[in-house]
Amino acid sequence: MHKLAVDIGGTKIAVGVCDEDDTIVRSWTVPTESDADRINENVAELYKKACESFDDISAIGISAAGNIKQDRRTVNFSANIPAWINYDLSGHIEELIGADIPVVVENDANCAGWGEYVHGAGKGSRNMVMLTVGTGLGGAIVLNGELYRGSFGMAGELGHLPMVPDGDTCGCGLRGCAERYVSGSALERFAKAAVRRRPQDATRLMELCNGHIEDLRGPMISKAAQEGDVLGLYSFNKIGEWLGRTMAAISAVLDPDIYVIGGGVIAVGDILLEPARQAYERFLQASAYRPIAKIVPASAGQDAGLIGAANLSLR
Ligand code: BGC
Ligand code: NA
Ligand code: ZN
Repeated sequence: MHKLAVDIGGTKIAVGVCDEDDTIVRSWTVPTESDADRINENVAELYKKACESFDDISAIGISAAGNIKQDRRTVNFSANIPAWINYDLSGHIEELIGADIPVVVENDANCAGWGEYVHGAGKGSRNMVMLTVGTGLGGAIVLNGELYRGSFGMAGELGHLPMVPDGDTCGCGLRGCAERYVSGSALERFAKAAVRRRPQDATRLMELCNGHIEDLRGPMISKAAQEGDVLGLYSFNKIGEWLGRTMAAISAVLDPDIYVIGGGVIAVGDILLEPARQAYERFLQASAYRPIAKIVPASAGQDAGLIGAANLSLR
């Protein structure tokens, strides 16, 4: 028995055929088109392609950035795909594939978090929170071994915790969301501001972006930080501190025993996690008198979302 996991991202659709244990046995990617109908057709085509090699695909699990309703079929809103407003994603795909198998939709960070919980760094924990630090900031909450969806499917939108009154404008339309301070885009913003303020320290960063500061991207900042560059490290300290502050706020509500940190930015490991751990303890209430949650990097990497989507498709 196999499951098809589909991760609809902003730039690419990643697909994995997973076996009973959620191991990915075949995977590939196609570019994401901006048109919702084309995305549905793409998913149906990918399903048909997978069926050529696997005759026992019994569920499709779809991971998508955005708010998914409690029915695990409908997208309330997604910043990536404008047409996905109150959109029956499962229904459209079921119609195209014409097969009687479940098509289950789940928030991308929830999929990654669930993947880490069942097969990765969160395994064996009781209450786990995952934060995915990528272009945006995603969150997943696992309480007593269950993915927590809230009353309307909207729990775990931790990137939109309101952290700064009248702060930076977020893609969601609000201001001061955690995502504006903990994400790949925040990293770029902090680094660019630092380069402008301290040009005398910016030699390496300017070199990496070929002298065009507007071209400065996250991976360049990671590279500089790993080489010990002061502005690269400064930028990671900034998002690390905000990450710690955000986790302290989350702990006041959920008191998890572990935070799993994933997403592209975590490639630098402790360069991000050490300042995050320090800030976490600094902003955590009664931190000297309570157990401190573990803060660890994700271990299933890019595959966590597919693994989680596959597992969730039959739950
Ligand atoms: C979205 C979430 C998503 C996260 C990571 C946020 O901006 O609101 O739904 O999980 O980005 O992609
Ligand atoms: Na989430
Ligand atoms: Zn927001």
